[in-house]
Amino acid sequence: MAQITSGIRSILSHPIAYDGLQGALGVTNARRTVCEEYIKASEGQVVVDVGCGTAEILKFLPGSIQYFGFDLSQSYIDSAQRRFGDRGTFRCADVTALSANEIPPCQVAVSFGVLHHLDDDGARHLIEGLYDRLAPGGRLITVDPAFVPGQARIARELIKRDRGQNVRNCEGYLDLVSPRFQQRGIEPRHDLLRVPYTYAVMTCVR
Ligand SMILES: C[S@@+](CC[C@H](N)C(=O)[O-])C[C@H]1O[C@@H](n2cnc3c(N)ncnc32)[C@H](O)[C@@H]1O
Repeated sequence: MAQITSGIRSILSHPIAYDGLQGALGVTNARRTVCEEYIKASEGQVVVDVGCGTAEILKFLPGSIQYFGFDLSQSYIDSAQRRFGDRGTFRCADVTALSANEIPPCQVAVSFGVLHHLDDDGARHLIEGLYDRLAPGGRLITVDPAFVPGQARIARELIKRDRGQNVRNCEGYLDLVSPRFQQRGIEPRHDLLRVPYTYAVMTCVR
């Protein structure tokens, strides 16, 4: 995993510190917007969330979906299980090492803030597995910080300091999915956090 977890950033390994920082920055609002404008999960759909963290996204998804969350961090998974145990199934796993048949067949796959932690080989392996398990017409939605020409200087500086070591530009994220997904699009969003920041929201349809 290409993620910095040493020094001051080690505090973020604690679920309460992690959720607190995300709340202060406005990530909660970003999740709400992404759920409403991009994920748009319907009642009864199966949603797979790779790199689910503490599964905060469940606050903005319909109660009737079948949710499966995977994350590398056992403490994040434990936190998700404690708070949302009745809303989904949670598993500690390295998503770059999952075989396709370990991923539940689904209509929606979500990767919020994860691809920029993964190198190209790991990300492509994950995307292939998700593609195989998505139903025809099913969608993969990814959200990651991105370097975009003309973005605010503060946004660029903040993104450079991210724990993830594989932040890409929009073309870089599209390159990861292009071997599998013919139907794909990406939108840079500069308005999702309380601070200047750029997220690239990618939508791929099987
Ligand atoms: C920026 S956080 C986003 C978490 C969550 N999606 C959210 O929106 O709060 C990135 C997450 O990816 C997880 N992660 C990073 N590399 C991973 C890997 N190889 N396998 C599984 N999870 C991974 C981290 O543990 C962390 O929870």
